[in-house]
Amino acid sequence: MHVDGMDLLRELETKAEGIARCHGCAESNDSARAPLCHHPEMAVSERTEYRIEPVDLASADDTLLRELNDLQNEIAHERAPEEPPIALEVLALRVRNRPGFLKMREWIVRAPAGQLVARGFIARWEADTNQHLRDANIDVAPAHRRRGVAKRLLREIVDAAGSSDDIVIEFAANDRVPASEAFLRRIGAHETLRTHINQVPIAEIDRGLVHEWAMLDPTGYRLVWIDGDVPEELMGNVIVAYDTMNTAPRGEAMEDWHSTPDLIRQFDRSRNATGRLRRLLLAIEDATGATAGFTEMSHDPLTPHLLGQGGTAVVPSHRGRGIGKWLKATMLERVLDEWPGATLVRTGNADANAPMLAINTRLGFRPAWATIVYEVNIADARRYAGSVPV
Ligand SMILES: CC(C)(COP(=O)(O)OP(=O)(O)OC[C@H]1O[C@@H](n2cnc3c(N)ncnc32)[C@H](O)[C@@H]1OP(=O)(O)O)[C@@H](O)C(=O)NCCC(=O)NCCS
Repeated sequence: MHVDGMDLLRELETKAEGIARCHGCAESNDSARAPLCHHPEMAVSERTEYRIEPVDLASADDTLLRELNDLQNEIAHERAPEEPPIALEVLALRVRNRPGFLKMREWIVRAPAGQLVARGFIARWEADTNQHLRDANIDVAPAHRRRGVAKRLLREIVDAAGSSDDIVIEFAANDRVPASEAFLRRIGAHETLRTHINQVPIAEIDRGLVHEWAMLDPTGYRLVWIDGDVPEELMGNVIVAYDTMNTAPRGEAMEDWHSTPDLIRQFDRSRNATGRLRRLLLAIEDATGATAGFTEMSHDPLTPHLLGQGGTAVVPSHRGRGIGKWLKATMLERVLDEWPGATLVRTGNADANAPMLAINTRLGFRPAWATIVYEVNIADARRYAGSVPV
């Protein structure tokens, strides 16, 4: 929905990345569907003796979350060794305060000696569109790879995905970990969108250019800040702003998302409960009061080095007047003063998003790593998962 989905999952959970996308869940409302020769009580795989357990992280205790956080830090370190580890508190706050419309099913895997070595989830965002779409992810600790652990987690994911035949599962691969694309191709998934995490050290931002763009002040528009929750009188403007993200490049299976007041309230509640801060800037057309564009940045005091540049969009009929540059520069000027402890601004952009990259590149953003969206049709996923020997 407004911003990019898998990244919202990350943003909600651990990796304080800039972009967020919105969809998710995974309610397995499919008791009618024949499971793939799998029974929940058959937790111990005879072949590997790895044990798969369903978990509900929202109610999990700190001991389990600490094990999971250690795994996630190990996985994150492989992808970005330069990043500091994320504190347990970040994960705990996020999994305990997920928005209600995010429906997740998740599993952990324990090695024979009992240690937590892998995690998988599938998610669906309860909404009026995209109910065929699922987000999923599998992480296996490096020392436990190539032993069929991901295959077995995939079987759980496929089982929980739902009974309908139009389901598409999205995964996000990473170019710094070649196994992720190799695995996804093996299960029958194909690449549908290439994106990069782009970032700029704050010390390298061209403050002169930022100031120049912040002064653009295109005729006929004004800026409005939203610092906390979205006020009722701006709800309609924010919905238009978020829905303009539907014009950004996206994967094949995704339909337009439609934001609602309830969804925005859930985001506000979830963000407040985790202690994250957000600044939302709207460009409003003076004559009509209509939304012309927006940009959004967030900051988690528990990951103080990082500022997350979230969605930015200009409504198509208002493009070509410098509103994008004006919004981004005005936002940067403010948050660099307001959150001075940060050293890095991070965002995520589709490689095909030339207009956004044109702005970001001039501000100093450079690619850090690629995040590649892969999609697999449920039929292909079932075929691969069903072929797993038990
Ligand atoms: C991708 C990942 C989950 C694979 O986990 P795994 O437990 O090693 O995978 P499995 O042993 O179950 O292998 C499943 C299939 O993928 C293939 N595969 C897995 N890693 C591979 C690699 N590096 N190169 C080629 N093929 C690979 C396996 O050969 C196997 O194929 P088969 O069914 O023909 O036997 C793991 O490498 C990982 O955690 N990477 C980091 C996290 C990540 O990138 N996740 C994103 C993808 S969801």
